[in-house]
Amino acid sequence: KFEKIWLAFGLGSLVLFLAIIGFAAFWKGAHPQSHIETIDPQNVEAHEAFKPENLGLREVADGKYTVNIVASAFNYDFGVDDDGKPVKKIRVPKGSTVLFQITTKDVIHGFQVAGTNVNMMVEPGHVSRLETVMKNTGEFTVVCNEYCGIGHHQMFATVEVY
Ligand code: CUA
Repeated sequence: KFEKIWLAFGLGSLVLFLAIIGFAAFWKGAHPQSHIETIDPQNVEAHEAFKPENLGLREVADGKYTVNIVASAFNYDFGVDDDGKPVKKIRVPKGSTVLFQITTKDVIHGFQVAGTNVNMMVEPGHVSRLETVMKNTGEFTVVCNEYCGIGHHQMFATVEVY
């Protein structure tokens, strides 16, 4: 008799878990907050924002910045500096408004600026956008939070707010 009760309890928990997972997936899928525009992942350079010369940080107005990034396994491309070296750190003043625009050439990546509200999923074929105000000074690490392969942990950069 007790066995039956436990079995029912087990099955009930399983159904509840599946319902929660299903609901969470549906809820997430129903709110693609940052996926507005489509793009050809094989030819991201065709998009104005992702031309090599337009990558990285640009001041578009007083206190307003845009950061264009192309993710790929296992790198964030922020363009190159004056010496031709890959940019791995961007600096913006405190209180600035920053629009992050990011896409991927290959698989799904994440783009999270740890310690800020910037956290996006980057899917092939889409441009992910998120605008935020940098309220706090400090060095914030950009990390990939979607497992994308063996070099997943190597995907990082830094955003410094001064
Ligand atoms: Cu890119 Cu994980």
